[in-house]
Amino acid sequence: MTLADIPATPGHPPVAVDAPPVDAADDLTVWPHSTTRLAHGDLAVGGVPLTAIADRFGTPAYLLDEADVRERCRTYLHAFPDTDVLYAAKAFLCRAMAHWVAEEGLGLDVCSAGELELAVTTGFPAARIVLHGNAKSPEDLRSALRLGVGRIVIDSASEIARLAAAVPSGSRQKVLVRVVPGIAAGGHSKIQTGTDDQKFGLSITDGSAQHAIARILDQPGLELVGLHCHLGSQITSDKPYLCAVRRLVGLMARIKDHHGITLPELDLGGGHGIAYRPGEDALDITTLARKVRVELTESCAAAGLAVPRLVVEPGRAIVGPAGVALYRVLSVKRTSDRTFVAVDGGMSDNPRPALYGVRYLPRLIGRRSTAACAPVTVVGRHCEAGDVLATDIQLPADTRPGDLLAVPVAGAYHLSMASGYNLVGRPPVVAVADGHARLLVRRESLEDFRSRDVGL
Ligand SMILES: Cc1ncc(COP(=O)(O)O)c(C=O)c1O
Repeated sequence: MTLADIPATPGHPPVAVDAPPVDAADDLTVWPHSTTRLAHGDLAVGGVPLTAIADRFGTPAYLLDEADVRERCRTYLHAFPDTDVLYAAKAFLCRAMAHWVAEEGLGLDVCSAGELELAVTTGFPAARIVLHGNAKSPEDLRSALRLGVGRIVIDSASEIARLAAAVPSGSRQKVLVRVVPGIAAGGHSKIQTGTDDQKFGLSITDGSAQHAIARILDQPGLELVGLHCHLGSQITSDKPYLCAVRRLVGLMARIKDHHGITLPELDLGGGHGIAYRPGEDALDITTLARKVRVELTESCAAAGLAVPRLVVEPGRAIVGPAGVALYRVLSVKRTSDRTFVAVDGGMSDNPRPALYGVRYLPRLIGRRSTAACAPVTVVGRHCEAGDVLATDIQLPADTRPGDLLAVPVAGAYHLSMASGYNLVGRPPVVAVADGHARLLVRRESLEDFRSRDVGL
């Protein structure tokens, strides 16, 4: 949709005169580092005005600041020396993203044959890829073995025999075991994966992890190289990670005692929390890395173990803050309690608010309003009352159909979780760098829907 499609309507009367002025919300701390202010209320990201992106590619649209992604990859490599940093593709994957991550020297965490094939066919070295999944399909395992992924992370007891049987005779597949350390951490109960009452991994507490390890060691086709855990997502404290190091090193010590082997790798997963709105907590990567290294060294020394190679798997913290979503306002509705500003996207491109109650901070771009700010709820266009992007945020009281809203911190778990709901079509992804914009993923069209729909 372009501006020309929406007639600008006369300004609505302000609904709250005592609200803070527009500039009070003019905080760019959660925006990509390259973001600059332009005239007429516009912003530029990667040197490209957001209004120009909306005009050229239509709305809704997502943009990714390439330099921002690359800089975050480098920050990780710098903060975590002597560590394998794997980008968690589930946060967002397209061919360009795979290239950037590969060029920056990271590995990749995938969890389906789809993610794996996309990465490998675009040139990502399979040896630097780790396959995850609590329920890997036969196709996932076949692709992983055929393409030669570096590691497969075993997540359930039933997977052991299945994988061992699929490994060609005479070869060995390196595997890790995903263990559940019994640690509650993460921004929402639905993204906490370190406790026993959820579907991922094998519990240390009930002995399932130890049992699985013994079975893996019996399989000649499998080479157990380490332990893995992923505590959850949007974790803003380093304490759970330090606790996980202690528990996993404790298990490694018991494995050494019982089986006489020292596992050479320890994968702590991802989950590093980021700020979605100014002032929110984020995990400091450098501090986390330093504390984890100290804890690992000390725990291993106390247990008489050689220090394993560390692996981390950040997704959100690499791509989340580098992304911006652009929407056009389609309607403004005032009820007795609220003002609803409805945009041309919503839960089909960003299901996170509906899933986890996450709230964003959209801002008006492309025109400088002199109206006072007023509290509004920004909603999507989908047929669910829960299709809400932001509740009670401040926008200029004259926000009207045709206006553009931009949502920062939109790079992770939006489009990778996008759906075909209401056949609205998934938005395009545009890379911005050095003042240029280029299309990475095109908009999903009506023709795409028609071509998949083959029956009558
Ligand atoms: C096994 C594993 N590793 C890494 C990640 C990445 O988490 P985040 O994007 O929060 O860093 C996830 C997310 O679900 C995961 O399941």
